[in-house]
Amino acid sequence: MSDKATLEVNGNKHDFPIIVGTENEVAIDIKSLRGVTGGVTTIDAGYKNTGSCESEITFLDGEKGILRYRGYSIEELAEKADFLEVAYLLIFGELPTKEQHDKFHADIKSKSIVDDDVRKIIDAFPKSAHPMGVLSSLTSALTAFNPSSVNVDSEADMYNSVVKILGKFPVLVAWTMRKKQGLPLDYGSNSLGYVENVLKMMFKQPNEDYVQNKIIVDALDKLLILHADHEQNCSTSTVRIVGSSHAGLFASLSAGISALWGPLHGGANQAVLEMLEAIREDGGDTKKYMAKAKDKNDPFRLMGFGHRVYKNFDPRARIIKKAADEVLADLGVDDPILEIAKGLEQEALNDDYFVKRKLYPNVDFYSGIIYRAMGIPTDMFTVMFALGRLPGWIAQWREMRLRKEPIGRPRQLYVGETLRPFKKIEKR
Ligand code: ACO
Repeated sequence: MSDKATLEVNGNKHDFPIIVGTENEVAIDIKSLRGVTGGVTTIDAGYKNTGSCESEITFLDGEKGILRYRGYSIEELAEKADFLEVAYLLIFGELPTKEQHDKFHADIKSKSIVDDDVRKIIDAFPKSAHPMGVLSSLTSALTAFNPSSVNVDSEADMYNSVVKILGKFPVLVAWTMRKKQGLPLDYGSNSLGYVENVLKMMFKQPNEDYVQNKIIVDALDKLLILHADHEQNCSTSTVRIVGSSHAGLFASLSAGISALWGPLHGGANQAVLEMLEAIREDGGDTKKYMAKAKDKNDPFRLMGFGHRVYKNFDPRARIIKKAADEVLADLGVDDPILEIAKGLEQEALNDDYFVKRKLYPNVDFYSGIIYRAMGIPTDMFTVMFALGRLPGWIAQWREMRLRKEPIGRPRQLYVGETLRPFKKIEKR
């Protein structure tokens, strides 16, 4: 492999260094492009070919269907680790020792109280508000209750802000759901594991003890791990770019939550379930919906299918599909929607349109079926995704700040009007 790439512009040749990552990915470093060419820029709508940073956090190979956090395979982590271990791994780079894990959890718990005035903000939302809008607003509101900015040169300051948000975020998640259901806003219990506490905060009824169900705890733990990071996706890039202006961690996360909300990204898990439900209500005719998905005059897309990076099975989808089978069987839930999903998948995998375009089920195709079996309302699915993605966003924000990355500011190619004289309003 040559160590430089040559580009000819207007008859002049320019060399650009080629850099190679630890997994032998190759990138052309065009930092000097505008300088040496006198202002020529690149256009890459949707950043399909553009690397925005160098990162040590997550490796994925979309052709081979590989996903690794800090070098550990997603399959091994989903099977053997717990969510907090994975959060620590993503954020700090190594799996924690038992002492580090216990201290991390204790520190998170010690910061989990949310200012009581936050309840007033929640009260001001109409019950009809979408939970993702509420969660994004509440995360942003945390900046008002925690106004001091993080000194990124101080390890203690960084650590403090990390454990603070990991402690408070599950409370906001639970309160977002409970407000909508008219249930009292409460805290869980510091004697519980992180995921157990999330479940208790979400589901505890005021007049009953909450009994943990190990099947549900394990399933949620796995789902959160599978969602914990996915390198430079839309929401993560948003977190990094907002943070690159030196906006605070909570403000950057709030922007990431908004980016995640869209149905082409994290909002797909809600959209998948609504689609499967609509197919069921329409008599379960999967062929009809396959035809709609392929019809270029129909805006319908098969939600939960396709991915910008994976041109092979999304490895997370494989794990989640297996988990969906197991969890539903263990819980004794017989959900006809699972059969519809499997039917759609089979048809898509054998259909020329999907095969040619390398469209496979993504992480969102089966996750909603598990959330539903756990009793989580459909409009909370993307909130659960955000809870899982939180460590990834934090890790990426922290990495961006520690590497002292410059402010994110893309270029454009202007294609609008050239200079023209102003006409007074009565002359237009
Ligand atoms: N159903 C039907 N056709 C599809 C689908 C789909 N789900 N996804 C892509 N295609 C088609 C496109 O129409 C296009 O066809 P064409 O080449 O004939 O024009 C081709 O496949 C390529 O699709 P693009 O939209 O160009 O691919 P892109 O990489 O920009 O988009 C995306 C990826 C947004 C995920 C897309 O596949 C999609 O909309 N999927 C459904 C939504 C979804 O499940 N999103 C969750 C992604 S995972 C996540 O973010 C957590």
